[in-house]
Amino acid sequence: MQKLIIKGKRELSGKISISGSKNATLPILAASILANYVQINNIPLVKDIFTMVELLNFIGLKTKINRKNHYIKISNNEKNINTLAPYKLVKTMRAGVLVLGSLLTKYGKAKVSLPGGCAIGTRPVNLHLFALKKLGAKIKIKDGYIIAQAKNGLKGAKIKFPSISVGATENALLAAFKAKGKTILKNCAIEPEIKDLIKFLKKLGANIYLEGRTISISESKTKSFKIIHDVIFDRIELGTYMIASAILAKKSLIIDKIDPKIIKSELNILKKIGVQIKQKKNSIIINRARKFKKINIITKPYPGFPTDLQAQLMVLLTQANGESRIKEDIFENRFMHVPELKRMGAQIEIKDKTAIIKGPTKLTGAEVMATDLRASVSLVLAGLIADNRTIINRIYHLDRGYEYLENKLKNCKAKIKRV
Ligand code: UD1
Repeated sequence: MQKLIIKGKRELSGKISISGSKNATLPILAASILANYVQINNIPLVKDIFTMVELLNFIGLKTKINRKNHYIKISNNEKNINTLAPYKLVKTMRAGVLVLGSLLTKYGKAKVSLPGGCAIGTRPVNLHLFALKKLGAKIKIKDGYIIAQAKNGLKGAKIKFPSISVGATENALLAAFKAKGKTILKNCAIEPEIKDLIKFLKKLGANIYLEGRTISISESKTKSFKIIHDVIFDRIELGTYMIASAILAKKSLIIDKIDPKIIKSELNILKKIGVQIKQKKNSIIINRARKFKKINIITKPYPGFPTDLQAQLMVLLTQANGESRIKEDIFENRFMHVPELKRMGAQIEIKDKTAIIKGPTKLTGAEVMATDLRASVSLVLAGLIADNRTIINRIYHLDRGYEYLENKLKNCKAKIKRV
């Protein structure tokens, strides 16, 4: 099994370019089922994307990835279509469940494996199914599979989500795309990745309007010409490298291929902690800060502070003066990085949904274990700032979502290697 070995306390300098967003690419790949021919640019070459592409191939789409230029071409000649998403592909990547909406829209039926739990919580799909049922799908659960049918097509409906879910909003959008009449979705997730999906669906012919947390969709007709789409940047990858730069930049570090307007709340929080940030149109310069201030935050759906940056922020707060608090309000079990950070010297206590972080503490290298994608990268951050050597086991989690992590860091003079 592969490990990462990091020699900490190296100052970083240079430039990091941010990759395309994994969480935007995944639903757009699922939406490609609705198209005849698409080219998606700026895709990150990470494991979850390859798994989704494997799923599209299994369904019967033709895919070709250009690794050098980070794009994929997908075509659908409607031959040998399989409306099945098997367990082996959905179990490792929950976003596989997003093909449900597209398959129902295009073929009127789908059999999709239930994704099951994952390390950060139970992660049910009841909200996805709630929306699909309201749109007229007949759904039953059998042998671990969601079996959905809409023989005569789906019908527009007014749907208010009882709570906000990124995946359920995406699945509902994919299902409402061709539903007869008008669909109004209320209490939607409005993450930038969802806005990117809407942009893609509009290119495909969808009539979609977003206002606040309400999305209206009128019956749409698919356009049959080639669709080209550029995926937005990965705001979580950006946040991760901003935190690394704030603690470790020799003087400053440039991070580019981004749009700072999309990450206002993250920028405000980092600035409050004391991170010095210069914003440009498509880049950001982070100056090294010598002192960080404590802060209390709660993770929230966008535009709030993202749960996907919670673990990384916690590492920064181990270096802040005083007692900070992070309340994790999205997932019930997302503090698995805490015992590992404590092994490196962090002083963190968990009370119910809140982590209390005492700082500043000196971190020292240790052998640690990655438990999920974002927890893994928080251990990389901790390893970079710690004294001595840190060994991170189970780094396959990292490969699910961070493109060229070691190379990007090595180019900035970090000492990190995979063995
Ligand atoms: C997406 C992101 C993930 C991010 C999360 C929250 C992708 C591929 N993944 O995951 O990185 O951490 O948003 O920003 O984009 N819930 C239910 N029932 C459902 C669906 C969700 O109760 O049917 C709950 C979940 O357990 C969780 C909360 O709603 O507590 C939010 O989950 P959701 O927004 O759906 O996350 P994902 O779409 O799975």
